[in-house]
Amino acid sequence: MTDRHTILITGASSGLGEGMARRWAARGKNLALCARRLERLEELRGELLAANPAITVAVRELDVTDADAVERVFGELDAELGGIDRYVLNAGLGKGASIGTGKAHANRETAMINAVGVLNQAEAAAALLRGRGKGHLVFISSVSALRGMPKSQNTYGATKAFVSSLAQGLYAELDSAGSDIKVTDILPGYIRTELNRSVQTSLMADYDKGVDALVRTIDAEPVRALVPAWPWRLLGPLLTILPEKVSRRFV
Ligand SMILES: NC(=O)c1ccc[n+]([C@@H]2O[C@H](COP(=O)([O-])OP(=O)(O)OC[C@H]3O[C@@H](n4cnc5c(N)ncnc54)[C@H](OP(=O)(O)O)[C@@H]3O)[C@@H](O)[C@H]2O)c1
Repeated sequence: MTDRHTILITGASSGLGEGMARRWAARGKNLALCARRLERLEELRGELLAANPAITVAVRELDVTDADAVERVFGELDAELGGIDRYVLNAGLGKGASIGTGKAHANRETAMINAVGVLNQAEAAAALLRGRGKGHLVFISSVSALRGMPKSQNTYGATKAFVSSLAQGLYAELDSAGSDIKVTDILPGYIRTELNRSVQTSLMADYDKGVDALVRTIDAEPVRALVPAWPWRLLGPLLTILPEKVSRRFV
């Protein structure tokens, strides 16, 4: 395990991104935080610096669907912080509706942010990491990537399958070239945040436990991990082999 000192997190204005920022700040990491809601990032920066004045926290307003802005902002933050060691591509949207029911805009928005937005971030982050020849690139996918799911989860799950596939392919390329750039694909299960405020399921993990598990797992830098480990390391493989009528109940 390598100690990463400077971490960029997208989608840090709420939920898992905000939680990861708090954990890593408490451990003395320097942070670059991005999202569209700048005022929330500024508030978070104030809180983190009050608790630990020794660290650096840079914030930027960023819409990940704007490829030029992603490239520019990642480049500026990399220069400002003297090199980003780890990029956590976390920004995401949980909107969606049954295909063909007149809510194409919701599915398209989810696809733009979760798929094209992640591609934009991967391009910009990988270019900077390739320039340095080292670092850690973390993709935040979902257990929804494991199996096609119906209704509101349909497009969301498909975007997360895209994210996992992108991570897997990039890992294969860099690892076979003997690169010091590590790639991690994280598949979170349900962790209570704004994104799933209307979801009721016994599989929902408490926010703090979920964020603790995410940070612990990312710091271990695995190639791929389902988080929290319980119950997803058991349910995940099952999801891929169970008959569809059963698997649809899990996600
Ligand atoms: N919570 C779960 O159970 C769960 C499970 C599996 C996977 N995940 C994944 O974990 C990630 C974080 O989700 P969360 O649960 O923490 O949800 P959340 O609280 O809704 O946070 C989503 C974050 O993404 C940012 N974001 C959304 N659209 C953006 C855009 N176009 N450009 C830049 N930032 C954007 C939001 O910030 P702004 O609105 O300020 O831009 C926000 O900070 C997502 O990728 C999600 O799919 C979550």
